[in-house]
Parts: sequence; structure tokens; C-alpha cells
Amino acid sequence: MLIVIPEVFTKDQVREIRALLDDSQWIDGNQTSGAQAALAKQNKQIAIESQIREQLGNEILSALGTNPLFLSAALPHKILPPLFNRYDVGDGFGIHVDNAIRPVIGTKERIRTDLSMTIFFSEPEEYDGGELIIETQFGPQSVKLEAGSGILYPSTSLHKVTEVTRGSRISSFFWMQSMIRDEGERTILFDLDQSIQRLTMELGAKSPQIIALTATYHNLIRKWAEV
Ligand code: NI
Repeated sequence: MLIVIPEVFTKDQVREIRALLDDSQWIDGNQTSGAQAALAKQNKQIAIESQIREQLGNEILSALGTNPLFLSAALPHKILPPLFNRYDVGDGFGIHVDNAIRPVIGTKERIRTDLSMTIFFSEPEEYDGGELIIETQFGPQSVKLEAGSGILYPSTSLHKVTEVTRGSRISSFFWMQSMIRDEGERTILFDLDQSIQRLTMELGAKSPQIIALTATYHNLIRKWAEV
């Protein structure tokens, strides 16, 4: 399931974040790649240990922490610190899959990557190329969102970023371990939660049917979640 999370940041917030990103120091993007991915990758990143990366990464985590659509779709357990990349003219990232297990930098902890997220910080008209192409069971899906919006997709998917032919594409990307490991179970919970939200608007939160469905939702989480 590919889910667009619109307006994680407002346009004013995007302007502030972009000002900091444009002023940052960018290094070779292969600092974070697995061996196979490194062969396909040509881009720039902000160093993991950089203070500005940490500050902006925390802004992303707190924005997502109060985003109902993101929380409903991801049911996140642990989110790795967000990273930032920039693709200039000639840069791209060939087809690859991300590593299944990633270390949490600065700790002994590791997480399983269930979901990947990209948040765009360049407007689509600022650059040509640079589409995120995700292979799905319904064929390849091309993603290029407005600045401030993000896409959540299963980390099991093969994906690539097409070569940029004009301008620069700046985004944040990161991985997370979901409380619900299985993609099918996660999709059922997302669909159920979205239906409950819509029905609540029609029937009101005190409706006995809504209360019963909400109990079913939580009972399924209780059955399937790892925390
Ligand atoms: Ni990747």
C-alpha cells in the first residue's frame, strides 16, 4: 500500500526548512547505503551526525507524531532518525531494495525496516526527473509530490529515483518498524480505522456501533501488534 500523507508541513514551514537545508553542508550519499545500493546511488546527503540534520529530523518526527493519517497508516513502533538527500542534475538512484535491518546510530539497537517514507522539500516545478518509482503488485508507481507532503510505502518494495535533468530535488527519507509487521494486517487496520473515522462523523462518537467497531479495531491490534 502506497499512502500519500499530504501537508506534513505548511508552505511557511517548508520555506524555513528549505532555508536551513540550502545552507547545509552536503556530502556523498553513500554514507548510509548497503553494499548493493551503493552501486546504484548517486546523490548528496547531510551527514548523519550533523546538528542541523538532528534538529530538522526531530521537527519531522514531532510533526508526524500528531498526524492522524500517518499514525493510522504506519502504526509506528520505532522510527529511525530522518535523513536528507539532494539530487542535482545527473544524480539518480537505480533500482534497489533497502536493507531489512538497520542500526540506530549511536546505540546498540537495530530496527527492522517495515515502512519507508520520503517527504519532499522541493516543489515539482523546481526540477525535471527525480521521480520516485516504486514497484508494486499493480506495476510501477511514479511519485512526485509537492513540497511538504510525503509518501509512505512498504520497505519490501523495489524502488528507484530517476535521473534529475534540471534543478535539484531535496527530500527527507527514513525508515520505521511498525507495530504490525505484516503488510496485509496493517492494511486491514488502516481501512478499518479510516471507516470508523468517517462513520464517526456521520453517527457521532457515542453511537453503540462506533464503540463496538472501535473495540474490534483495538482487539485486532492487541492480537497482531509487537511492542
Ligand atoms: Ni532506497
